[in-house]
Amino acid sequence: MHIMTVEGIGDRRRGLHPVQERLAEAHGSQFGFCTPGFVMSMYALLRSSKYPPTKEQIEDNLAGNLCRCTGYRPIIDAFGVFAKTDDSFYTASLSENVNGQAICPSTGKPCSCRNETDVDANESSLLSLVKTYLPSSYNETDGNAYNEKELIFPPELQLRKIMPLKLNGLNGIRWYRPLKLEQLLQLKSCYPDAKLIIGNSEVGVETKFKNAQYKVMISIMHVPELQTLKMEEEGIRIGSAVKLAWLQMFLKKVIAERGSHQTSSCQAILRQLKWFAGTQIRNVASVGGNICTASPISDLNPVWMATGAKFQIIDVNNNVRTTIAKDFFLGYHKVDLKDDEILLSVILPWTRPFEYVKEFKQAHRRQDDIALVNAGMRVHITEAEGSWIVSDVSIVYGGVAAVPLTDGKTESLLVGNKMDYGLLDEAFNLLKEDTPLAENAPGGMVEFRSSLTLSFFFKIFLYVTHEMNTKGLSKEGLYVASMSAIQSYTRPFTIGTQGYELVQQGTVVGQPMVPLSATLQVTAEAEYVDDTPTPPNTLHAALVLSKEAHARILSIDDSVAKCSPGFAGLFLSKDVPGANSIGPIRFLHKKNIGPIIHDGEVFASDVVTCVGQIIGIVVADTHDNAKAAANKVNIKYSKLPAILSIEEAIKASSFHPHTTRCLSKGDVELCFASNTCDKVIEGEVLVGGQEHFYMEPQCTLVWPVDSGNEIHMISSTQAPHTHQMYVANVLGLPLSKVVCKTKRIGGGFGGKETRSVIFAAAASVAAYCLRRPVKIVLDRDVDMMTTGQRHGFLGKYKVGFTNDGKILALDLEI
Ligand SMILES: Cc1cc2nc3c(=O)[nH]c(=O)nc-3n(C[C@H](O)[C@H](O)[C@H](O)COP(=O)(O)OP(=O)(O)OC[C@H]3O[C@@H](n4cnc5c(N)ncnc54)[C@H](O)[C@@H]3O)c2cc1C
Ligand code: FES
Repeated sequence: MHIMTVEGIGDRRRGLHPVQERLAEAHGSQFGFCTPGFVMSMYALLRSSKYPPTKEQIEDNLAGNLCRCTGYRPIIDAFGVFAKTDDSFYTASLSENVNGQAICPSTGKPCSCRNETDVDANESSLLSLVKTYLPSSYNETDGNAYNEKELIFPPELQLRKIMPLKLNGLNGIRWYRPLKLEQLLQLKSCYPDAKLIIGNSEVGVETKFKNAQYKVMISIMHVPELQTLKMEEEGIRIGSAVKLAWLQMFLKKVIAERGSHQTSSCQAILRQLKWFAGTQIRNVASVGGNICTASPISDLNPVWMATGAKFQIIDVNNNVRTTIAKDFFLGYHKVDLKDDEILLSVILPWTRPFEYVKEFKQAHRRQDDIALVNAGMRVHITEAEGSWIVSDVSIVYGGVAAVPLTDGKTESLLVGNKMDYGLLDEAFNLLKEDTPLAENAPGGMVEFRSSLTLSFFFKIFLYVTHEMNTKGLSKEGLYVASMSAIQSYTRPFTIGTQGYELVQQGTVVGQPMVPLSATLQVTAEAEYVDDTPTPPNTLHAALVLSKEAHARILSIDDSVAKCSPGFAGLFLSKDVPGANSIGPIRFLHKKNIGPIIHDGEVFASDVVTCVGQIIGIVVADTHDNAKAAANKVNIKYSKLPAILSIEEAIKASSFHPHTTRCLSKGDVELCFASNTCDKVIEGEVLVGGQEHFYMEPQCTLVWPVDSGNEIHMISSTQAPHTHQMYVANVLGLPLSKVVCKTKRIGGGFGGKETRSVIFAAAASVAAYCLRRPVKIVLDRDVDMMTTGQRHGFLGKYKVGFTNDGKILALDLEI
């Protein structure tokens, strides 16, 4: 394995890689925190493609990258130049219209842009431009263009013989990498509880976000028997460690080689994979990892079940047994595998003539999102006594129960019958019975999800009927309007234009200038807080957070945390040297009182008012050790009644004091009563809270100066001055003894004005007390849990308007 990071492909001194150069020149970065990710996604695509990718491939490839501030249009535009184009369109002789006029390929209108007489002049001026233009990927030192020094895969790594590995980690963790099936089975017999790892996309989430701890881990991705991908008589054999991206490539080849009636299942799996996560995940995640995780919303498991796939399981004694996919999933994240067994491979059977397989997935977004409901369905039609009837059918839904749900009653109804409109109503009724979603089902949106189960079935009905009609074997009439439901969704390539006026009056304002830091951002030379070199002796911080919504803190026990590796200190409200308050600046310097209402503490001292409220901060030698120690702080609470929604707060008359405001103009009641409104409607709109979702999480590096009498910090904040004030207040120092610097931030969107200060204040308490530098960088989940959002709103409205849409009166209560 050879890992290349964005720093490796180009920088400002050596010259930019063309991918970096394009993104910078095309205004594809603003604060630039996402930029190296985009560069590397594009670079990886170019390096791994034999031929220039298509625009669609480029866009698909970026599906796992998020950008919050630039917007995707300039990024996609920037990378569009690397796409394969149909050169003949431009180079072949121009098409002509009926009048014999040449048609311009770019505008589609008559033009003279390639008029013979103009060509020389145009091209010579163009050439002179090209000659003087030196792209920034051109290196001034050695005069080479970048592509003359593209890095190659290191030969020494290519020659290196891969070895089995055994690594010992901290806290007794062991990591094995067997290279043979027999080694793997031997390890599994020694460590039946060992966690098998392939792409780590599931296990990584468990260990990082759910505090799962596995003492023995076995990486099985190099075991050849688990990497099998081959066509057999029965179907395709897919090893459990096969990456989803390899499977995609293989299925494309199989579909191209085999008759379409044999590959209906392959096509369904391939289409489902298109909307499975994004390229980055598909490049590492495996077939076996997805199956064995047995997630109720797995996108593939309902399809394996519907296709009649078989799973081969091997035990530590080399015995192989086969089970059908339908019998494999036993419960929530529970599968039919004993401690001494592993999943060996999957056999995906070929489909028969007139056997149709369809996949479905509905999510909030198409790309990189989890399904609300998904499904796999298979219908086999055969001829019996002169009519074409359903001889075999499989309907499996994901996302509606703890395990993928087979709709047995509807299946029985269909078998032996013609698939026609006459059956639909009954089938819909049975589907409703068979796939009930409780009102409080996890995931919510119950009505919508229930209706999805029916519409998926309707879609396969349309599809099969259409196929049979096309072959002249059925005459079921299909509404033209329904036909679009037959096609699988394909998203056209994103196109956007931006119009702006060029102001050319000797000023850069109004000009589309490339931002000065763009080249720093595309090369990742731009430093954010987390990139700042830490001073010697720096400690890393993790927060101790409330697990209760509303409760009194009874006790805080740090005895176990103190023994945790690398632990250096726990700081609570009692340790704050100055005021423990956070609130509007005008209230600062009043010891231990909160602003407006008394809820602005740095560390909760007595009562917590939300899950995720900060109770303390732990510092340790590493970020991981700090997190582990913080998890070991044991807090006892006495629960208090909690109000969890705006509706509940209104019911309980629980309002913030002095917050009533009223704006009134005219007399709305009079207008409602006056009969001038043709219609009056009333209703409610509930808008949930919104996360600010800056790309760079909250982070601060704090260090003491002058033996701890002064505090300096680099913070990711939109308001360094506010940081200075609050930290001074919390430490009881004069403003002149606190310095806050902000070089750049990776996004704020308002979430780093007042919200960022609490983390700087918490870290500064630890830094001040210990006289050591402290760095705090929040994990994304902690960030989202601890920072306030833009509030939710409940609006109750009564609005009167005329028939031609003129609003006459509005009574709105928010
Ligand atoms: C950003 C993101 C997006 C995602 N999107 C989707 C999505 O769109 N659809 C979807 O369905 N899932 C999605 N997932 C879930 C996950 O990626 C898949 O479940 C993936 O296929 C897991 O494969 P892996 O190789 O990474 O598994 P790993 O994390 O390596 O392993 C997962 C589990 O499988 C077990 N296991 C692996 N191989 C075997 C074997 N041979 N025998 C027995 N047990 C085994 C492991 O012990 C472990 O418990 C997403 C995950 C992430 C992080
Ligand atoms: S540049 Fe992409 S999130 Fe800011």
